[in-house]
Amino acid sequence: MNNAVILAGGQGKRMKADIPKPMFKVLGEPMLEWVIKACEGADITELCIVTGFMSEVIDEYLNGRYESVIQSERLGTGHAVMQAVPFMKRRSGGNTLVLCGDAPFIDSKTIGNALKLHVSEGNSVTVITAEIENPKGYGRIVRSGDGISCIVEEKDANPQQREIREVNSGAYWFKTDDLLEYLGELTQNNSQGEYYLTDSVFIALNKGRRVNAYISENPDVVLGANDRKGLLELNTAARMAVIEKHLENGVEFTCTDGVVIGRDVVIESGTEIMAGTQLRGNTVIGKDCRIGPNCIIDNCEIKDGVSLNYVQAFESVIEAGVKIGPWVHIRPGSHIMSGVKIGDFVEIKNSTIGEGTAVAHLTYVGDSDVGKKVNFGCGTVTVNYDGIVKSRCEIGDNCFIGCNTNLIAPVKLGKAVYTAAGTTITKDVPDYALAIDRGVVKIKEGYSLRKLKKRLEKE
Ligand code: UD1
Ligand code: CA
Repeated sequence: MNNAVILAGGQGKRMKADIPKPMFKVLGEPMLEWVIKACEGADITELCIVTGFMSEVIDEYLNGRYESVIQSERLGTGHAVMQAVPFMKRRSGGNTLVLCGDAPFIDSKTIGNALKLHVSEGNSVTVITAEIENPKGYGRIVRSGDGISCIVEEKDANPQQREIREVNSGAYWFKTDDLLEYLGELTQNNSQGEYYLTDSVFIALNKGRRVNAYISENPDVVLGANDRKGLLELNTAARMAVIEKHLENGVEFTCTDGVVIGRDVVIESGTEIMAGTQLRGNTVIGKDCRIGPNCIIDNCEIKDGVSLNYVQAFESVIEAGVKIGPWVHIRPGSHIMSGVKIGDFVEIKNSTIGEGTAVAHLTYVGDSDVGKKVNFGCGTVTVNYDGIVKSRCEIGDNCFIGCNTNLIAPVKLGKAVYTAAGTTITKDVPDYALAIDRGVVKIKEGYSLRKLKKRLEKE
């Protein structure tokens, strides 16, 4: 059975933060997740993750999705794979893919094509390699004839070998049973005193087994991050690759400054994404929308022709033709129906806003079911929380809510209810009624003139 072992024991000291290196994020996802998804995309779903530094952080992240084993001492890549021996023994007869958890750009196609080569040639080991401009730091692929003879690490290489530009990506396919055999023969005889997994190539050749390299069409498969600068470079490369994909699909960008789009985001053609906009998670955006400047859209479904300007929206659905912004917060669980207009300084949380409703300014709508063509006056507040429980407000179609109305939940306004400005609603209002809660205004003529005189005398 084909399976994969992902090496994720590293600390990443040069990152200067106490989290395991594979947990550093590229486009909002841990590098480890990129590697896992590359496996899943190639239909490799039997995974074993080797953890080491702060293993609990990785285990918590995996949340039981895949098996993990701890490498309690960091004695090299070969030693890391040794921790997965029981996992591999249970999968005898198959092929094992070994991957680095901190090289996020390994892709499903490379994994799949390398496996095809591995199987069709009957290889014992197939090393995934790439030819790169600057091979510094990587293991070099030493070739003889049309095969490879060994992998030599930078620190062990002679000057001539250091000139080689074909490098080891750190990803390989092995026959599982052969790998189990080679692991038992690794030694620590090298400049770093580590068990090098790369020595298995040499061991295999010595036993007369077939070894070959699969040169990846995508040289980025080798890229990893050793420090913050490297991580930024990975993010920049990934960010631009995603934007290019959307450009090809007919999405418009006049300026990509500050634009960060997650890999799984879907955008239809004719939509424009403006500067400072971050689109995250499984967000889906329809046709002919205008998103930005300066929006954060996280796991939302946005239908056609929507316009969002300075909006932060999370886990919500926004139907066609809605206009929102500027400075609006749409919190999880909201459903904004078509034709709605939402203006400045409005917060919507866990609420449905019916078709054609207007919430123009300075309003909080939380835990509410709002009907069609409702008009919210400035400063309306749904008072949904009494400090202990959260309750809902129901607002019928065609209601007209006066400025500064408080709706003390749970409460229901019927159809076409009017509330007078400044009213605090504490009980249900029937259809077609006006609710008014207002003290009598007393006018004291000339009062301020007397005050004004006193003030002027003081000056
Ligand atoms: C390794 C390869 C090198 C290759 C490079 C690609 C060896 C000896 N060298 O070198 O040929 O070009 O990867 O990036 O294999 N890890 C553990 N436990 C350990 C050691 C490492 O889990 O004891 C993990 C790391 O977290 C990392 C991966 O294995 O995810 C690679 O380890 P790293 O130390 O970065 O190997 P390199 O020296 O870069
Ligand atoms: Ca490395």
